Amino acid sequence: MGALRVAGTWDPAADVVLHHGDTLDLLRAMPSACAQLVVTSPPYNIAKPYERGARLTLERYVAAQDAVIAACVRLLRPGGSLCWQVGNHVCEDGIVPIDVLLYPCFTRHPELRLRNRVVWHFEHGLHCRRRFSGRYEVILWFTKGDGYPFDLDSIRVPQKYPGKRAWKGRRVGEYTGHPLGKNPGDVWIFPNVKANHVEKTTHPCQFPIELVERFVLSVTRPGDLVVDPYLGVGSTACAAVLHGRRAAGADVVAEYLAIARRRIVLAARGELRTRPMGRAVPTPRPTSALARRDDPERRTHAPRRRAPTQGLRIAVDADGGARDDRR
Ligand SMILES: C[S@@+](CC[C@H](N)C(=O)[O-])C[C@H]1O[C@@H](n2cnc3c(N)ncnc32)[C@H](O)[C@@H]1O
Repeated sequence: MGALRVAGTWDPAADVVLHHGDTLDLLRAMPSACAQLVVTSPPYNIAKPYERGARLTLERYVAAQDAVIAACVRLLRPGGSLCWQVGNHVCEDGIVPIDVLLYPCFTRHPELRLRNRVVWHFEHGLHCRRRFSGRYEVILWFTKGDGYPFDLDSIRVPQKYPGKRAWKGRRVGEYTGHPLGKNPGDVWIFPNVKANHVEKTTHPCQFPIELVERFVLSVTRPGDLVVDPYLGVGSTACAAVLHGRRAAGADVVAEYLAIARRRIVLAARGELRTRPMGRAVPTPRPTSALARRDDPERRTHAPRRRAPTQGLRIAVDADGGARDDRR
């Protein structure tokens, strides 16, 4: 991509549109059938700071989501994909599975077909005392109609047993697995963006870019438009730009858009540090200090201090704040 054209309102000639304001204002300004992929993680109505403190009733939350989903369906081309990542709404009485709650908002559009209910599993998060700790999110992947692209080869992952061979039949002695790797399946294991993750910014719940890349590569082509109605710090737009796609999105928080803009510019220059697709989730070496408990009396080393991630440095710079090289 040459010089990146970034616009603040819908502009069909822009590479990236970053709209500051309510998502419906952006979505309604965009023409029908302009996007190949909508991928997003909407607010969960759990009174995060960006939700301005107030929780809607579940009825009002579903009605608000219904309006945004309908606007997104209009934007999709035939064969386009809609990926809605939602988890559980936690309340005093228990939890509410938001994907189940929102499912009727999708099925009222007869052209949508549910292709996968992807479970994104991660290993870290809050530790619950009275229920099992939550360690997954759900992504509902719909296509608009049946004629949709799906480039499986671009997202294959290594086989568990690449050396396995057929032991009988016509192909006896030949390798049985696909030479490019296997289908990643519908349970995706990526670390969530916390603490020392290289992409971490000040946003409390970013997408890992590798998660969005899997959709961008499999269901879009270079030059296609990828839309994230709840853009946050622009992880979706970064994934799109990294692979030569265009992007558009909105957020009500100006600081998040400022961070998004910096990350997208770095992505276009090939300078954004991301966790690479396909890197295995690390397990500590049995001999490492993290994998064992020492006798506190015999502790010999001081805890190591780490430099902040690139994402956090981008966030601090975007806020115009003083830069602290140590955490
Ligand atoms: C779960 S976060 C999305 C984070 C994003 N996936 C990322 O990687 O940065 C939801 C975002 O929606 C934004 N938001 C909430 N209500 C909105 C609205 N009505 N219009 C636009 N953005 C909104 C919030 O400010 C928040 O950044």
